[in-house]
Amino acid sequence: MPAPTSVDLTDVALFAAGRHHEAFRRLRAEAPVYRNPSADGSWFWALTRYEDVLAAYRDHDTFSSAHGAILGGSFRTGGDTASGDMLVASDPPRHRLLRRALHPPFGPAMVQRVTDQVRRLVRDGVERMRAAGGCDIALDFAPLLPIGALMALFGVEHDDARHIVGLTRRMVGYRDPVLSDLSGDERIRLAYAQSEIFEYFAELLEDRRDQPERDDAIGMLLRAELNGRPLDDEQILYNCMNIAVGGNETSSYTTCAGILALLEHPETWRRLRAEPGLLPSALEEILRWSSTNAYVQRVAVRDTRIRGVDIARGDVVTLWNVSANRDADQFPDPDRFDITRSPNRHLSFGSGIHRCIGAPAGTAELTEAFSALLDSGLEFRTAGDPVRLHSNFILGFTSLPVEIVA
Ligand code: HEM
Repeated sequence: MPAPTSVDLTDVALFAAGRHHEAFRRLRAEAPVYRNPSADGSWFWALTRYEDVLAAYRDHDTFSSAHGAILGGSFRTGGDTASGDMLVASDPPRHRLLRRALHPPFGPAMVQRVTDQVRRLVRDGVERMRAAGGCDIALDFAPLLPIGALMALFGVEHDDARHIVGLTRRMVGYRDPVLSDLSGDERIRLAYAQSEIFEYFAELLEDRRDQPERDDAIGMLLRAELNGRPLDDEQILYNCMNIAVGGNETSSYTTCAGILALLEHPETWRRLRAEPGLLPSALEEILRWSSTNAYVQRVAVRDTRIRGVDIARGDVVTLWNVSANRDADQFPDPDRFDITRSPNRHLSFGSGIHRCIGAPAGTAELTEAFSALLDSGLEFRTAGDPVRLHSNFILGFTSLPVEIVA
């Protein structure tokens, strides 16, 4: 294990090998405000303690979201981003207006439709698993969550939803050898993957333009207003993209991580079967344990100081959920998977004004997936080594084979 000063948190191999928890343990102890040197010569600050990450989330006056949540993830070249038009990449007062405009697709009625659609798909998925004697959770089961969510949210057919999931999976996996052809410039690969998603939604918007009465996310965004004016096409498209990218890989990879955690802790799986009332707190622990959205990016808009370290205006600051969620000062015995953990104030959905607007939908999807598995009465074991995604932003799996044992 190298000294913290030589850790590079942009090194996806660290995450693909599952060695990141050890690196974060040392950073929290030895360099909680860490100046991370990246392979490309750039650098950024990394906050790894719970208290510091939470404080930065809440201090949106100092830490701006205008450059987006992902390091190097501008939507266009030259630093011109979706800033101010995409919810996740906006600051107040614009953020408040956008969040209000985007509220309808995330309200209780839509969450119920997502729940119903995901329930149908995961129950069928479990029956297919039963018939086949197993499956690859990462390929055959977990993607059913975002597929169901997209069908409900955008009113698209199964094949289209599957297509969008493929696009966002490739975008999030732009540094993964299984999901991406690694030749050529990384930034161009990411920009290309983003443009494919953008194009898909541009066509969908064209098809739907004369149906603003439709009761789905596009119809809702066509009817939404910002400062008394309808959203323009770019604003609608950026936010469709935010919904798809924000919701697809997060819920499906959290499912993979949760199933793997239960397979690695069979006594916990048995307990959950015996006491299904523990499911809500088990899901919170799965969210903490997986920390699927590993970090978010901010940029300091004024000079500040954290733990005696000077942060200058313009510095990039990353808030590491995956580390904060294992901070022993907040979570006693943090490396213990404990489905009864209480309190469990994990930061997996972020905090403050940008806290995940899709959290109720995401939690409903996870509830459906794990309820279907528990209700099936099936018992599983791993049928091969899980393969982790090569990403430092979204922590996931490209393969998680399981077989049924009973
Ligand atoms: C387990 C599932 C999920 C996880 C771990 C997750 C994680 C997060 C995190 C950490 C943020 C904060 C970003 C920031 O502060 O910069 C966020 C925001 C957001 N998420 Fe999620 N998310 C999940 C599910 C979803 C779903 C299902 C949707 C949509 C259907 C969604 C859409 C969004 C959007 C639109 C934002 C931006 C909110 C804002 O900036 O005000 N997420 N999510």
